[in-house]
Amino acid sequence: MNESMAIDKRAIADYWARKPQTYAIEHGGRIFINADNSVVTAEPGSREFFEHADKVLLAWNHPLHDQNPFGRIFPYERYRGKQVLEVGCGQGGMAQMWAERGAIVTAVDLNLDAVEKTRRRFELFDLTSGGHTIEQQDANALTFAEASFDYVYSWGVLHHSPDLDRSVAELARVLKRGGRFGVMLYNRHSLLYGYQIAYLEGIVHGERKFLSPLQLASRYTDGDREEGNPYTWPVTAREARQLFTPYASRLDVQTLGTDIQAVLGHIMPGLAKHIPRSIAKALARRWGWSLWISGERS
Ligand SMILES: C[S@@+](CC[C@H](N)C(=O)[O-])C[C@H]1O[C@@H](n2cnc3c(N)ncnc32)[C@H](O)[C@@H]1O
Repeated sequence: MNESMAIDKRAIADYWARKPQTYAIEHGGRIFINADNSVVTAEPGSREFFEHADKVLLAWNHPLHDQNPFGRIFPYERYRGKQVLEVGCGQGGMAQMWAERGAIVTAVDLNLDAVEKTRRRFELFDLTSGGHTIEQQDANALTFAEASFDYVYSWGVLHHSPDLDRSVAELARVLKRGGRFGVMLYNRHSLLYGYQIAYLEGIVHGERKFLSPLQLASRYTDGDREEGNPYTWPVTAREARQLFTPYASRLDVQTLGTDIQAVLGHIMPGLAKHIPRSIAKALARRWGWSLWISGERS
């Protein structure tokens, strides 16, 4: 049995229930930093909490917005009144964006806490009457019938479970022919992974003597530099193409690179902000941390 097959799915669900992506200063946290650097503590599951979390989610991804949040990558208009599935909804920020723009949303997550938080969010923001469904499901084994959805998306989720090819096959199975999809996966050919994790942590700090590549990636990406995150394994653009090609009539793999300024700040403290925008953008397109894989179901 290889290392990734030994990962218990309950351990993944438990980890994310304990350390949800709250967009606070640490995973699972409730302390947020405002734009003016003031600090605020919000009660998890409160309206204020979701609003702070969303502000951070939006700020991290600011190049992806037009008049709509994530409007450069999410085709909201096309799927008004249509069935849209989110796999791995976390605290429900993106599901809310889709629901507010007229989609009939089905949001699923492996851990029950995320499901409860997303339901709570929909109650707090008056979204309970749109025919939306929020439930616990595993991306590796969705229970929906074939061709149930017009659009399927997933943001930063599928690389957290072994058997990624199974998740992609499931996503394709439940999507209608001609329906579109968008999936964000972490990029192994990135500055964050190649420099900060594999080189700095693995080689310079000697961590690769004690940790396997999977343990190293899990600990220094979504693991908050601690033990506990059972599985995070980024892919390359080439692997992403291979994974999705069998199901897609049109396929595009784009490096988003919204992390690049933060990563450059770690690599060259004090100097990063002096890097010309054109160079930072070129680096982001080539070595950014997230791949956006989008296309049409064949
Ligand atoms: C980094 S969080 C991202 C959440 C959300 N998409 C966001 O961007 O805020 C990862 C989420 O994926 C969920 N997850 C991990 N493996 C999963 C699986 N096999 N099926 C469904 N959800 C999964 C976790 O429970 C967690 O809520």
